Parts: sequence; structure tokens; C-alpha cells
Amino acid sequence: RIRSSALQPMMAVRSGTVSSVTQILTKLQKECATPLPVLRHVADSMGNDMRAGLAVDGASDLKMILSYVDTLPTGNEKGLFYALDLGGTNFRVLRVQLGGIDQRVIATEAQQVSIPQDLMFGTSEELFDFIASGLAKFAEKESGEFQLLQGRKRELGFTFSFPVKQTSISSGILIKWTKGFAVSGTSGKDVVACLNEAMQRQGLQMQVSALVNDAVGTLAGAKYWDNDVMVAVILGTGTNACYVERIDAIPKMPGQKSQSGTTIINTEWGAFSTGLPLTEFDREMDAESINPGEQIFEKTISGMYLGEIVRRVLLKMDEAGSLFGSSMPDKLQTPFSLRTPHICAIQQDTSNNLDEIGSILFNEAGVEAKTEARQIVLEVCDTIAKRGGRLAGAGIVGILHKMEDDMKGLIFGKRTVVAMDGGLYENYPQYRNYLQDAVTELLGPALSENIVIEHSKDGSGIGAALLAAANSKYKHHI
Ligand code: GLC
Repeated sequence: RIRSSALQPMMAVRSGTVSSVTQILTKLQKECATPLPVLRHVADSMGNDMRAGLAVDGASDLKMILSYVDTLPTGNEKGLFYALDLGGTNFRVLRVQLGGIDQRVIATEAQQVSIPQDLMFGTSEELFDFIASGLAKFAEKESGEFQLLQGRKRELGFTFSFPVKQTSISSGILIKWTKGFAVSGTSGKDVVACLNEAMQRQGLQMQVSALVNDAVGTLAGAKYWDNDVMVAVILGTGTNACYVERIDAIPKMPGQKSQSGTTIINTEWGAFSTGLPLTEFDREMDAESINPGEQIFEKTISGMYLGEIVRRVLLKMDEAGSLFGSSMPDKLQTPFSLRTPHICAIQQDTSNNLDEIGSILFNEAGVEAKTEARQIVLEVCDTIAKRGGRLAGAGIVGILHKMEDDMKGLIFGKRTVVAMDGGLYENYPQYRNYLQDAVTELLGPALSENIVIEHSKDGSGIGAALLAAANSKYKHHI
């Protein structure tokens, strides 16, 4: 490829370069800005969309899925339970020995297996066979403190982190894949049946006692230790939030009862789209994605997409203004070549010459970047991370306000914990700070004092095992 700019006189190139790169940056920063009125609008719209989704199925971007989780773990649960967590590029298997109220979690053991890329685009049987075989291998190695109570079958909590229309606590139909999965033959099917069939093919004896979303698993896991947890948010490859809702505030489920009077609602907020500050880069990424027009909030704030948005901006800066001088950004032309962990690493570079940024750009994008270019790259990363973190914060405030409206005084009038999990939240300090800043700005000092936003490490796996225990088929025999 011959750069047109390379054919022009040097001076013209330099001034043209600088001005178009800065122009693109300035425009980007303007379009991604999230001042208080924008955040407020997003928070309010989140609340409105939640209400609409609770009123009638399909009336809102937010599906507001009933989780059927109204029996939360109490601490009394005893015995050996398994969990299987499928939701991103890895799946995890886990076993937990629960010792009842005094001992709680006696032992846990976990294993992570990465999912080969081709299985994300293969058939349902191939994917579930792969998972069931990993689970079977893991279950074989049960020893030491892990003991199954006599006369019981192994029970499993299945965390399946995609939109599922639950039909009971242990069954549910996949609505659609998200996060880059395009497995054929699963949509419209009961995913527990898919797993059961695959486990049978493996000769693995296990029964699914709870099917949960990762946000729901995180809420259950975090609430097991801290009863003030009322909301859980996932910020990882994808994003989602769930919360404790009053049964009588769910018009689409009239006559529904639960002992506690509450249930957990899985918002599927990744599909939210109202009032988001979007750019040409977001629109183009969406149009070229495998699910155009869907999961817009997720595409703006979650880990799968932040790196890709940055890549698109850098490519445009290079094409329009030779950001990387004469070096050819061939690698940078490959979609998803720059990933969120890279842009996070870029933001951790505090050296004078931004050496780390230079080597990330060299290794991941194949370009030699001068110090000024590195500085620009840093600003692009910061702009995209800032917008993501602040919008996530606005989403959380939207949920809290909606809850407070219906449970007067029970949210802002006392300590309320929002349990957070996911690699993006866990590993990206700037993103985390932007999120917290937005929450504090929106709530003001008085209200934000009672709201604790807390990392709940690996809540979703243990949470699923706990929910399997709380919903154990043997629970009435304890
Ligand atoms: C996607 C899925 C959702 C999941 C979230 C976080 O948005 O649709 O179910 O909870 O990612 O993993």
C-alpha cells in the first residue's frame, strides 16, 4: 500500500498530519463526553426501561428476566456441589464442600478450560460435548475433603451467561447468543437439556439443580457472605446486572408468589441503548458485528469491545493523518487485534517515553510509534475507557433509583452493596475509578455514603454451587 501522504512534500505532510489527528481526537473526546446531564439521562432511561420490561415482555430493550431464584442460600446448606460456568472465552468447573452454618465453605477446587475458537461457531452438540467432557474429567478427580453424602446424586449449578428465558430454577431456553458466540442449533432450546444429553453421552451422572446467569450467581454468592448485597454487576467480556426485586412490582407476573416476597431479576442490561453517546466508530463496529443493532450498551462499555473501538480510532487516525508515520499498520487492520487487556496495559504506562506503549503498539499493531503518537494513543484509550466506566456507573445508579422508588428507604437509607465481578472491573483500575466517580457524582455525597461498590471475586461460580444447594432435590431430606 502506498500512502498518498508519502507523495506529498514533507512540510505539508507534517502539518496535515498533526491537524487531522488532533481533529479526530478532539471530535472523539467531544462525542464520548459524559457530563452529568448525559449520565443523568442514561440513569433515568435505565430506570424507565426497567419498568417497561417488568410490565410486559418485549416492551423494552431490557428483558428483565425472572430468574426463579427466590430461595437464596442461607448458610445452612451442606454437602458436595458442583458448578459449571460458561460465558466467555473460558469455561470453569468448580466443586464446593459446604459444611452448614458454622463451617460454611469447607473446601473448593476449580479448573479453567479455554474454549477453542471454532467451537464458538460450531454446533450445539460439539460445544456441549466439549464442556461435558471437561466436567467429566474434573469430576473423576474427587478426593480429600470432598465427599458426597450417601444416597445422593452429584448436583450441579450451571452458570450460563447468555440471555435465557427461564422456565424454572433448573431449566431455560436460550433466547440468542451474545459476545461473539454463534453456535448453531441452541437458540430456542432448553440449555439444561442440551447439557444433560451431552453428560449422558459422556456417561456422567450429575443433575442440574440450578440454571443461573453469571450476574445472578454473583448476587447469590455475594449475598451469602453479606446480606446487604442487593445488586450484582458483571463487567467482563460482556456486561449485565441483576438485582433484588419485589414480586408485587413485577406486573408481567401477576399472582406470582415467593416466600420472601422478592425475587432476583436479570436485567440483561447489555441490550440497553437509550441516550448513549455513540460515535462513527461504534456504529461501524456494530454494523460489522455478528449481531448488528443488538447489545449496544455492551458494545460501548464491556471488555470484548473497548479494544476494538480503540483500534478503529487509531486506524482512522493513521489513514487520515499518518499517526504512525511511515510504518504500515497491517496488523492493526485485523478486527479485534487490539484487545482490552492491551488498552488497559497502555494506560498503566507512566514512564517518560511511554516505552511500554511503544512495545505494545509494536507487538500488537505492528507499528513503530513516536512519543507524540504514543501520547495520542494513550488519550484515545482513556477516552474510551472513561466513557465506558462512567456509563456503567450511570447504569448502576439507574437501578438503585428504581429500587429506591419501590422500596422507599431500603436502598439509600441504609448500607447497600453492589457486588461487582468480571475481568474488566477486576483488572482495569482507571475504568473502575471512572465508574465510581460517576456513581458519586450522580448520587451526591450524602446518598453515595451508603452505597458500597465492591468486588466480589468469583462469586458467580460459588454462587451457582450455592444455588444448586439451596435448590437441591434433596433439600427436604436434610
Ligand atoms: C452478556 C450476556 C449476559 C451475561 C453478560 C455478562 O451480556 O447476554 O447474559 O450476563 O454477557 O457475562
